[in-house]
Amino acid sequence: MPIPPEPVLELELTTRTTGADGVVVLEFRDPSGADLPTWTPGAHIDLVLTPELTRQYSLCGDPADTGIWRVAVLREAMGRGGSQFVHDKLSEGDRVTVRGPRNHFELEPSPQYVFVAGGIGITPILTMAHAAENAGADWTLVYGGRSRGSMAFADALAENFGDRVVIHPEDEHGLIDLPGLLGDVRENTLVYCCGPAPLLDAVTGHCDSWPSGALRTERFAAKDLEEPVRAEGFEVELTLSGKTVTVAPEQSILQAVTAAGVQVLSSCEEGTCGTCETAVLGGTVDHRDSLLTADEQAEGDTMMICVSRASCPRLTLEL
Ligand code: FES
Repeated sequence: MPIPPEPVLELELTTRTTGADGVVVLEFRDPSGADLPTWTPGAHIDLVLTPELTRQYSLCGDPADTGIWRVAVLREAMGRGGSQFVHDKLSEGDRVTVRGPRNHFELEPSPQYVFVAGGIGITPILTMAHAAENAGADWTLVYGGRSRGSMAFADALAENFGDRVVIHPEDEHGLIDLPGLLGDVRENTLVYCCGPAPLLDAVTGHCDSWPSGALRTERFAAKDLEEPVRAEGFEVELTLSGKTVTVAPEQSILQAVTAAGVQVLSSCEEGTCGTCETAVLGGTVDHRDSLLTADEQAEGDTMMICVSRASCPRLTLEL
């Protein structure tokens, strides 16, 4: 299936507030007052901060409110500059180029959910909790963070949902009790987790005995890459441009097709954002991204060409 082109919008930053220590909450609106594209819980948008600096942030407002897109951004002192730009340079009234929304972390229907959020990973989970509540599902959320003051939306969650939500500041309670939370496999239950890599890895480990597909995660940083299935290069046939390019072992498909003059949108270039997602029409893919579920990877309809490769001599892509 072709990947539809994404909306690219010039939006105004209309509200900037403090969400927690080190977290700003930004609200964007169309300057003309037009409705924004619809989105679903788990979706993220790209903020194009400078020509060289594009970053992804989960939408954390109300999907029913088509007038506002809200994101929350944690200042990451050791980051690559995106969050510092947001914190230091963006002011109310600024115009920002925004791409998306895009969703690789969809909330699938289920009678029961366990949500686990770490730090700023609360942003997609927040909208999922509201959606689960609206759908009448049985759900719980455990939200961990360094300290209470660093945990955006914690008070509102506790106020709105009472016992369904466990706020778990590490300096008060230590690490989340994952064996207690996930030790018993529950039928008809989906586990959604977003947060830093150690939390995701721990939750993944504890869900080993859960049914396949029960755990859904979203990563801020790419998983460690293993050696590619295929050590040698391969060919990629591009059906829309009519070109065939050779991808050398040290090159990504994205680099090879860009060098051949085929423009592809990209952002993270590490398989976490989904911007370079490309439809696969033939061949088998060595999926190396941190986004697609195991089932989606097995289907093989699409791939992230910034990191994923061919496990056969020739791939056919819709480019
Ligand atoms: S550019 Fe982000 S997944 Fe490829």
